[in-house]
Amino acid sequence: MMTVNLNSLWFIILIIPGLIGQSYAKQDGLTSLDCKLDGLHPFLIITYKNITIAADKITIPHSERVTVRCRELGRYKLIGDPFLQCRNGEWNNKPPSCLPTTSISNYSENAPPTILFGLPTGSAAIEPSGALAVFPGSILHLECLFARQLGNPEWTWTSTFRQYLTGWAIAASEKDWKYRLSIYYVKNQDSGVYTCSTPKGLTNSIRIHVIDLHCPTLTVASPMISRIQGTRMGHKAEFECPDGYRLEGPQRLNCQYNGKWSSEVPHCEPILCPQINVTNPRLQVLAYNNTVGGRASFDCMWGNNLIGEATIICRDDGKWSSPPPHCFQIICRLPAIPKNTKIIEDRSSSGKKRVRVKKVGSLLRFACLPSHQLIGEASIICMENGTWSHDPPQCEVRCPYPGDPPHGKIAPLKFWYKPEDTIQVTCSPGYVTPLEPVKRPTCRENGMWSGPPPPCRSYRDV
Ligand SMILES: *[C@@H]1O[C@H](CO)[C@@H](O)[C@H](O)[C@H]1NC(C)=O
Ligand SMILES: *[C@@H]1O[C@H](CO)[C@@H](O)[C@H](O)[C@H]1NC(C)=O
Ligand SMILES: *[C@@H]1O[C@H](CO)[C@@H](O)[C@H](O)[C@H]1NC(C)=O
Ligand SMILES: *[C@@H]1O[C@H](CO)[C@@H](O)[C@H](O)[C@H]1NC(C)=O
Ligand SMILES: *[C@@H]1O[C@H](CO)[C@@H](O)[C@H](O)[C@H]1NC(C)=O
Repeated sequence: MMTVNLNSLWFIILIIPGLIGQSYAKQDGLTSLDCKLDGLHPFLIITYKNITIAADKITIPHSERVTVRCRELGRYKLIGDPFLQCRNGEWNNKPPSCLPTTSISNYSENAPPTILFGLPTGSAAIEPSGALAVFPGSILHLECLFARQLGNPEWTWTSTFRQYLTGWAIAASEKDWKYRLSIYYVKNQDSGVYTCSTPKGLTNSIRIHVIDLHCPTLTVASPMISRIQGTRMGHKAEFECPDGYRLEGPQRLNCQYNGKWSSEVPHCEPILCPQINVTNPRLQVLAYNNTVGGRASFDCMWGNNLIGEATIICRDDGKWSSPPPHCFQIICRLPAIPKNTKIIEDRSSSGKKRVRVKKVGSLLRFACLPSHQLIGEASIICMENGTWSHDPPQCEVRCPYPGDPPHGKIAPLKFWYKPEDTIQVTCSPGYVTPLEPVKRPTCRENGMWSGPPPPCRSYRDV
């Protein structure tokens, strides 16, 4: 059972694509009256509806015509008729082929001669049939390429208008292989077929079609730079864009055999660097110009460091000179808090307390434990370079001013006394300290006085 099913499945897979192919073909409007050109000679160029294509396969509707020529005019000899018409699905002729000539075949005696053309003045264009359309007044050289040591070829022509100069070229580099026919100041009557025959009777021909044809005047929009030879058939126009622009379209147009330019006039499109989309709210765009040579400038919000280039330039190639910069928030790390010092106020810009890092502008206020003196700054601020305005203060053990005893004064008089400091009491007139020697109060290491200041007593009581 399984095997049978599989077999029928394969059957379907093999059959279906054929059916699908056919139905698509029908959708494309193909009918059995269309003609196909298939497996064409690789050197053939086909012109259909005035459009020239190099393809090995095309389909043409009934009653339409194509014109066929060989690539590299004169280097291949077209064998067959250049005009093909489709009639009820059949071509009226066998598709032509291209036969290599002497310049391709190493100047073999058995190859037809190559015919090249040169135009010291004037212009010419190639027609779809392979004929050379020449503008009147041109000077045309036709070169039949043949190895001189094998004998002299011969030029013949169909025009009865005049005789033409023929012979081996003069220049040393050409005299042994170029057999030339020159037509000076070409006239309409020079139209015709020019044939070169080798001593062995092999021939190649070129058809000359003298025609006075102009292409329309080209209008070129600023800022495009153009070099337009003229509007005669065979003339060229070349285009270029200034820096900062990209050429859209072909760089070169030819005025064709049919009096039409080979393409639309191109245009210059300004080159733009990619849009920069700033998503980081801390990054501010101060200036932005994304045309070539333009600049984009950035800054960071206060309290942030700019990493990268603050100004970037849109280069000729449409790329920014560097990526846009980044902003990093500047922070101060919470400093080490000395012993006996404590933070009494933590005003962070974020409002969050007790984080180990603080934003620029954060303020820390310190105080000391009792019996300690604050040495340094009581408040420090996180600055824009990520450092604190000062080190946190130190708190050092001190004895406080104990207060004057009644009728007496303490000397020396200070706010704070260091450990080991002593004080003495000077009594007001009429008062004395006890006569018996009393120990002077000394500031102890714990910030406490060794004892109270001695009292001042009235004489009368002593
Ligand atoms: C092809 O060009 C010729 C000559 O300019 C013109 O007369 C003819 O109408 C063109 N054919 C098409 C299909 O454009
Ligand atoms: C071309 O012909 C010359 C002389 O007949 C011969 O020496 C040479 O090898 C040939 N070259 C090629 C590529 O056939
Ligand atoms: C910026 O945004 C635009 C529009 O959203 C987008 O087309 C473009 O690719 C973005 N550019 C970059 C560099 O991400
Ligand atoms: C942008 O920069 C280019 C090149 O520097 C300049 O020519 C152009 O005027 C600038 N555009 C604006 C809107 O500033
Ligand atoms: C930070 O700035 C202050 C004041 O401008 C300066 O005194 C200090 O040297 C700077 N510190 C660093 C590490 O740059």
